[in-house]
Amino acid sequence: MSSMFRGRHFISTQDFTKEELDLIVDLSLDLKRRFAVGELTPWLPYQTVFMIFFDESTRTRNSIEAGITQLGGHAHFLNPKTMQTAHGEVARDTAMIFSRFGHAIAVRHCSFGIGNAFLNELAKHSSVPVLNLQDDYYHPMQVMADLMTIRERFGVNTRGLKVAVSWAYAESHLKPLSVPQSQILAFPRYGMDVTLAYPEGFDLMPDIVDKAKQSAEESGTKLEITHDMDEAFKGADVVIPKSWGGFYVSDNPDEIMAEVRKHKDWICTPERMELAAKHSIYMHALPADRGREVVDEVIDGPQSVVIDEAENRLHTAKAIMALTMGGK
Ligand code: CP
Repeated sequence: MSSMFRGRHFISTQDFTKEELDLIVDLSLDLKRRFAVGELTPWLPYQTVFMIFFDESTRTRNSIEAGITQLGGHAHFLNPKTMQTAHGEVARDTAMIFSRFGHAIAVRHCSFGIGNAFLNELAKHSSVPVLNLQDDYYHPMQVMADLMTIRERFGVNTRGLKVAVSWAYAESHLKPLSVPQSQILAFPRYGMDVTLAYPEGFDLMPDIVDKAKQSAEESGTKLEITHDMDEAFKGADVVIPKSWGGFYVSDNPDEIMAEVRKHKDWICTPERMELAAKHSIYMHALPADRGREVVDEVIDGPQSVVIDEAENRLHTAKAIMALTMGGK
């Protein structure tokens, strides 16, 4: 395995070998220890990350912004509505200009059918790393923090862990598919058996599911699909109930939300947690729709690791920036 990540785009964990992902988790754990004892890590002095957010964010924006500051650099927070992107400036020109100005371009663009294509167009014309801060396909920053959190809880050997990646009811907004898609792609590579649960019609992207099945087969693990939330929870070591939009239900957001409202019983409760293993952990990328996706008793309870999972966004973001940037 090469340790040379310099200049590589970070758009999907699928672009990296398992050994390379391990190195990211190892470095994240190292950065976490250094942060805990107040050791400075100015590994990217005076480097600039241009962060373009087409969608809202709390954790992702601030883990990148705090992370690059802690590495000795700086981030520009950019809203495309106040960029010339709003007047139609194309991704190619944006990529080439920011490549001349700084050291990485980081983007969140979750619009279904648009976001990943925009990132790939930027990457094609950028001479600095393009970092995916979530698109319609993938949320690689999140899944790296999830892998780190699972390793902290269960150790480095995660083979045989049973993980329930389940849809849950939410009304705040139609959440992207990218978190569960990144999880079903990455977890089988770590030996985990994944059960994907969702109400009929709330499918993930078929090509992603096919790739995840292939990945599971190659890794000697299982990826099973059920339309029964309880079934997924039974005996699980890790449960991740989280909403996503039914983008294959309809093109019309109102029609999708009408379908969502038929499934209010897809909520994570103490009774459902009883179905999982006694030592099981509850995870969620956050923000969670409290009282809809999950009740307070679970998300604030002893099995919940959501705050550690969110903290790990900082350490994994720093590791990914430290590895991919700095080539100029
Ligand atoms: N989990 C996550 O990506 O959080 P934000 O939407 O707040 O960035």
